[in-house]
Amino acid sequence: MKIAIVGTGYVGLASGVCLAAKGHDVICVDKNTSIVERLNRAEATIHENGLPELLEDVCNAGNFRATTVLSDAMEGSELVLLAVGTPSKDGEINLEYIRAAAAEIGASLKDRDDHVSVIVKSTVVPGTTDTVVRSVVEQASGKTLGEGFGLGMNPEFLREGEAIEDFMEPDRIVLGHEDAKTLDRLHELYAPWDSDKVAVNTRTAEMIKYANNSLLAVQISAVNEIANLSAAIGGVDVMDVMDGVHKDKRWNPMTGPDNARVNPAILTYLIPGCGFGGSCFPKDVQALHAQGNSAGVPMEMLKAVLSVNANQPGQVRRILEMELGDLADRRVLLLGLAFKPETDDVRESASLAIASDLLDSRCQVMAHDPIATENFISSFGPRASEITFKEDWQSALEDAEIVILATSWAEYSALSDLAKADQVVFDARRFLQPEEIQKAKYLTIGYRSIH
Ligand SMILES: NC(=O)c1ccc[n+]([C@@H]2O[C@H](COP(=O)([O-])OP(=O)(O)OC[C@H]3O[C@@H](n4cnc5c(N)ncnc54)[C@H](O)[C@@H]3O)[C@@H](O)[C@H]2O)c1
Repeated sequence: MKIAIVGTGYVGLASGVCLAAKGHDVICVDKNTSIVERLNRAEATIHENGLPELLEDVCNAGNFRATTVLSDAMEGSELVLLAVGTPSKDGEINLEYIRAAAAEIGASLKDRDDHVSVIVKSTVVPGTTDTVVRSVVEQASGKTLGEGFGLGMNPEFLREGEAIEDFMEPDRIVLGHEDAKTLDRLHELYAPWDSDKVAVNTRTAEMIKYANNSLLAVQISAVNEIANLSAAIGGVDVMDVMDGVHKDKRWNPMTGPDNARVNPAILTYLIPGCGFGGSCFPKDVQALHAQGNSAGVPMEMLKAVLSVNANQPGQVRRILEMELGDLADRRVLLLGLAFKPETDDVRESASLAIASDLLDSRCQVMAHDPIATENFISSFGPRASEITFKEDWQSALEDAEIVILATSWAEYSALSDLAKADQVVFDARRFLQPEEIQKAKYLTIGYRSIH
């Protein structure tokens, strides 16, 4: 099947390469000429495990290429997937890229006689595809839904860092559609996958994505609140608390071989930390909250989730000050700048807020990340010049009084052995085993010693 994908960021590129690997003929479109040129040289433009190899395969096989010209990509395509960004603007979803891309798609449909299905893959609030996208495409094309084009909504659930694996082995594929022809095409597109397929209307498809992300965010903030109270009370380690909770069979059924616990991935969302970030959870929860307000349904739970999360990176400074007093002139090494390991994405990363707090406290800040430093510097703005970015964290460690582990990159587990007696290790991700840190003073989220 020949398909065009508009927007070649994390989602557009991962989807494009995987769909091509399954035999489809894919053309990705992006406004950014550098992305297009690099992709046509089979050069990966984002950091994703397995992407460079798969990209090379599909480029060599001749069924993946990129262009800046949308009308070229639309030539002969039966399906066009919209994968442009849907960022947050003043707490609401910003549909400017969706509108612009839908208008371009509509314009290129104008002179075509065949029927094309326009599929929204970006995360958009319920009701966007069958109102905004529909009317923009209708106006630009002069055609009506069902007659000259079809409409679908196929939300993406991939996680950055595991994008290729998640796309290749999805938990389910949601086939939102407004017309039968589009549903048939979506079935054909995903025929190589034997995952569960959920065929619903486009609004339901949109809501599935938001419900999924919101419920995960609720869990994270709920655990973080319990962690903060445990620390305030003192003498309660929230990891022990969660260990007890994780043994509830409703979270962790004993249905493995010999009644072993299955330890589902959901438990990883029931661990405290310095807050969730990334390009999805914060903006998606905000967007649904804003939609609730405009629909006359205040989403009180989501409001609380956002408020807990906004304060959570601040726990790091609060606890450090409580334990160590004034932080001015302390030499601090911040380990991890990406919002999570295995990605170079720093959007809404807790490290942005932590670094800012440390500078406000007049600390001398050093920072390290295996791959996200460049993105961090451009996101952090002019104050990045006040931070010393290190290539080798282990030698930077020699010079630090306080080390904050903010992203759980595997290589930082060596910190347990390397930290010295006169140093403080602050584990903001509950990543290290406190009993393995023999020498340094250990501080963390969700625990305060009362001795
Ligand atoms: N990143 C994730 O992990 C993830 C996961 C699931 C869903 N999503 C959703 O998928 C959507 C895309 O997210 P992303 O992280 O891939 O975004 P991104 O910012 O990485 O990529 C968007 C790309 O679209 C391009 N673009 C914008 N307007 C264009 C136009 N008119 N024509 C051609 N190209 C255009 C931009 O240049 C950019 O390269 C968002 O709605 C997001 O919420 C993201």
